[in-house]
Amino acid sequence: MAYSEPYDKMDSKTLDISKAITSLREELEAVDWYNQRVVTATDEELKRIMAHNRDEEKEHAAMLIEWIRRNMDEWDKELKDYLFTSAPLGEHEEAAGGEHTSESSLPNLGIGKL
Ligand SMILES: [Fe+2]
Repeated sequence: MAYSEPYDKMDSKTLDISKAITSLREELEAVDWYNQRVVTATDEELKRIMAHNRDEEKEHAAMLIEWIRRNMDEWDKELKDYLFTSAPLGEHEEAAGGEHTSESSLPNLGIGKL
């Protein structure tokens, strides 16, 4: 696993969170790759297999999101604010009473667009 900070300065909780986030990234990448294969495969049976695999990766990603929600601060609040809502997403913060700061007013942390 790749870390941006010294390994020996991180506690086990931080390392577990990093493992979960890395795994979530891998699951999402697998969803994307299988989805591309579904679209481009020419054999119908192979398309069905790839679609099945793609959807299983969604289950894996969902389990990881839930683990992250239970184990990392702020995720519970953010997911409750956004998941299973129907308000236009760019307008949701204002509708929810928005304590969020607009992206353009955030200081530049030099870590690029997240
Ligand atoms: Fe998976």
